[in-house]
Amino acid sequence: MIAGWAADSEFRREADWNPGRSLDEYQRFYRRLIQSPPPDLIRLGVIRGGILVGYVDLHGDQPHRRELGFVIGERSRWGQGLGRLAGAAGLDYGFHQLALREIWAEAMDANQRSVRILQSLGMLEIGRGGKDIFLDQPTHYRQFAITAENWLAGTH
Ligand SMILES: CC(C)(COP(=O)(O)OP(=O)(O)OC[C@H]1O[C@@H](n2cnc3c(N)ncnc32)[C@H](O)[C@@H]1OP(=O)(O)O)[C@@H](O)C(=O)NCCC(=O)NCCS
Repeated sequence: MIAGWAADSEFRREADWNPGRSLDEYQRFYRRLIQSPPPDLIRLGVIRGGILVGYVDLHGDQPHRRELGFVIGERSRWGQGLGRLAGAAGLDYGFHQLALREIWAEAMDANQRSVRILQSLGMLEIGRGGKDIFLDQPTHYRQFAITAENWLAGTH
C-alpha cells in the first residue's frame, strides 16, 4: 500500500521520494524495510477507518533523543488534519513509550504544511539546516525541537 502512493508523481515530488524508482522497486524497498527494519528506525503506521493512511518515524541511535518524521498518503487525504495527528501521535509515543527527553525534526521552509505542523505541535525553532530544492524551488531546512517536559506540560 505504501509503495502505491508512489504511483502519484506529484506525491513523490512533495514527499521527496526518488522519482527514478519504478513501482516494483518501491514495493521491494518497503517490503525489505518492513521485514528487516534498521535498528535506528521506529516506524509506526497511521491507521484511519482500518486503512493505512501514513506513517510516523522516530529515527536515530541516541538513547534519549530522536528525529520525528511523517508522511500521509495518498495525496487526496492531505488537508484533513491527519499530518498533525500523526506528528502528535509520534511525540506521544516517543515521550510516553520510549521515555525520550527530546524530539527534533526538520522541514524545508518551502514545505509549509510540514512547517505548520511542527509549529502547531509546540516545537521550537532551534536552527537552520542545509539547502535543498522543494518543488523546483530553492529552499533550506528549518530545525525544530521539543522536550518531554514541554510536551507533557502542554495541551496538544
Ligand atoms: C506534510 C504532510 C504530512 C501534511 O499532511 P496533512 O494531512 O495535509 O496535514 P494537516 O492536514 O494536518 O495540515 C497541516 C497544515 O498545513 C496547512 N496546509 C494545508 N494545505 C496547505 C497548503 N497548500 N499550503 C500551505 N499550508 C497548507 C494546514 O492548514 C495545516 O496548518 P494549520 O494547522 O495551521 O491550519 C503531507 O503533506 C505529506 O505527507 N507530505 C509529504 C511528506 C512530508 O513532507 N513530510 C514532512 C517531512 S517530515
